[in-house]
Amino acid sequence: METKQEIEKQKQYIEKVKQINKGSNLKYYILTMGCQLNENDSEKLCGIVEQMGYEQIDNYQEADLVLFNTCCVRENAEDKLFGKLGELKRIKEKRGTIIAIGGCMMQEQHITDKIHESYPYTDIIFGTHTLHKFPEDLYKTLESKKKMQDVIDIEGEVYEGLPIKRMSNIKASVTIMYGCNNFCTYCIVPYVRGRERSRHPKDILEEVEQLAKEGYKEITLLGQNVNSYLRSEQWKENGTEYKGINSFATLLRAINEIEGIERIRFISPHPKDFTDDVIEAIAESEKVCKLIHLPLQSGSTNVLKTMNRKYTKEQYLELVEKMKKRIPNLTLSTDIIVGFAGETEEDFEDTLEVVKQVCFEQVYMFIYSRRVGTPGDKMTNQIPEDIKHKRFDRLKELVESQIADNNQKYVKTIQKVLVEGPSKNNSELLTGRTESNKVVIFEGEPQLKDKIIDIEIVSEHMWYLKGKHIN
Ligand code: SAH
Ligand code: SF4
Ligand code: F3S
Repeated sequence: METKQEIEKQKQYIEKVKQINKGSNLKYYILTMGCQLNENDSEKLCGIVEQMGYEQIDNYQEADLVLFNTCCVRENAEDKLFGKLGELKRIKEKRGTIIAIGGCMMQEQHITDKIHESYPYTDIIFGTHTLHKFPEDLYKTLESKKKMQDVIDIEGEVYEGLPIKRMSNIKASVTIMYGCNNFCTYCIVPYVRGRERSRHPKDILEEVEQLAKEGYKEITLLGQNVNSYLRSEQWKENGTEYKGINSFATLLRAINEIEGIERIRFISPHPKDFTDDVIEAIAESEKVCKLIHLPLQSGSTNVLKTMNRKYTKEQYLELVEKMKKRIPNLTLSTDIIVGFAGETEEDFEDTLEVVKQVCFEQVYMFIYSRRVGTPGDKMTNQIPEDIKHKRFDRLKELVESQIADNNQKYVKTIQKVLVEGPSKNNSELLTGRTESNKVVIFEGEPQLKDKIIDIEIVSEHMWYLKGKHIN
């Protein structure tokens, strides 16, 4: 297989860079923007550079290699990247730091043009389809001192076998599919991540089994549209099924059987692909957390249509009802975009109505950000910024009041909490998460870390719950 040979070749480059770096005690800094898929990519980048002999530090002033893994789903990430690049100029002049930028934003020509023009001291630019070639790019830069641009615009492949350095030793992300075929009109992701392609079930099962052996308890399955797993053309060419896995539902069931794993989460499913077999699999798999992320984007059928979401307000609400009926103790979280082109006051009120009706556990709210190259950007009926902001504030107010009410329901209940370790704000206390992903803070022995324990909730606060460990 070509992809296998390619990875073998890259492993040789890892060795070559390791030889060059031998004895030099080199340091790297990485900044990751964007979603959990990008974080998972960064874990692979860290795995690669650590095998090359670099050691991670958390300030770029003293780094020999600076890596930026970028996102372009909304505008603000661009300002952040250019700000950092500006600051790096002086450091680069002083230390000769190698600057490498990868990720989604690098798939955009206007961005790479700007980097060449305004930040010409950048050494390596790589895209989402060439992450696996980072060892080769870095080797060539070190050898020839030449700048590298390694961005290609293709449908995409699946590469297995890169090293990985996990951020946690208890929770792990496992990407199950890459790319997206949905082309929601506001969204840049399909243009920068290529077409949908699923990993082979065998590779996923082996990865999760390995994680279970290493003591991981919680697995989050990642993809832009996880419930269309194995539906792409690429799979139809590849084969029929593996150990009974031929869909997202059967994958969930198979992972549920893996001993040692105690919690399974997944993001993001698409409402249009939320078929009954997936609902059944969630209901019947005890390890699958009953907090489901179900992106709404808008509660208005008109806006959903212009967004190309392929469901109506009513279909979304029917799906929620069906899920609530079949899955006891179901809670839901969602993503909402405010102020998409053409959104009227009435449309926005539809969104508020759906939020009121569903009563989400958590709502991730975004102000619509025009993305170059998407159909949404070309729409002529854009909403003025001040109206977008006012609507956003109204939605935020509603969501916060719902969260406050909802938190009351937890008080005096007993929750299973996966203990993550000392709390960031008070190291005397421990922190962990409920199955519904609420942060819980409580007193306890440090040895409780990595365990799932019973906690009685004693009080609620906007963004966390306080609890008491019960034996
Ligand atoms: N594939 C996932 C989400 C990917 S992006 C899904 O479909 O749910 C994460 C979230 O960012 C989206 O759900 C959407 O709410 C938001 N988003 C995407 N493009 C955006 C844009 N142009 N402006 C504002 N928010 C956007
Ligand atoms: Fe973007 Fe839509 Fe694909 Fe999600 S499903 S990544 S929002 S195009
Ligand atoms: Fe951003 Fe790319 Fe994820 S655009 S949200 S990092 S897929």
